[in-house]
Amino acid sequence: MTIHIGAKPGDIAETVLLPGDPYRAKWAAETFLDDVRLVNETRGMLGFTGTWQGHRVTIQGSGMGMPSLSIYANELIRDFDAQTLIRIGSCGGMQDHVKVRDIVIAMTASTMGSPSRSIFREFDYAPCADWSLLRAAANAAEGSGSPVHVGGIYSSDTFYDERPDLNEQMVRHGILAVEMEAAELYTLAARYDRRALAILTVSDHLKTGESLPSEQREKSFAQMVEIALNAAFT
Ligand code: HPA
Repeated sequence: MTIHIGAKPGDIAETVLLPGDPYRAKWAAETFLDDVRLVNETRGMLGFTGTWQGHRVTIQGSGMGMPSLSIYANELIRDFDAQTLIRIGSCGGMQDHVKVRDIVIAMTASTMGSPSRSIFREFDYAPCADWSLLRAAANAAEGSGSPVHVGGIYSSDTFYDERPDLNEQMVRHGILAVEMEAAELYTLAARYDRRALAILTVSDHLKTGESLPSEQREKSFAQMVEIALNAAFT
């Protein structure tokens, strides 16, 4: 048991999927896993462990933003020995060719500041995905029926952004999409020699203002869970 995860030793699988929303964790566990057990409900940040095609998997909510994800990822890695951590979530499209409903697999995650910033200070560390997971997820996503983009994303600390000038520079430098967690996940995985990846669906678009209707969000979420599970056990 840790401060934020009420699971017992052995309750958490080596492979952990991390949706931001704890109710998405519940839905994904009930939809995709067999022999599902609730392993954490501290603060309502639900976590479930079950099996997928015979492999043990935990699906644990991470909350929104890097400070929240950092708490769960630190405890999953350091106290429960999680080896493979895959974020499944949504992002805002930033490029014209990245459309709502498309899948973005984050090769790198740039950030202005993560909970790890205090370690790096003036050094611009480049958080990047695990290559084996990235390759497996890109292959799995090709068969999903949705367009897939693999490249750099931006992990922001703000959803309600006030820096249009900075967004312009990111668009200019090829950043595909914005979300709020991947950079810290990648940094922690690197620090502790674990595998991490973020698989995202474009739920809204910063340029067009378009957004995905809620019934379609579930379909997109299901696609990401399938890609993540296939990638984890390839
Ligand atoms: N900004 C930050 N995070 C997001 C967004 C966004 O526009 N859309 C989905 N996650």
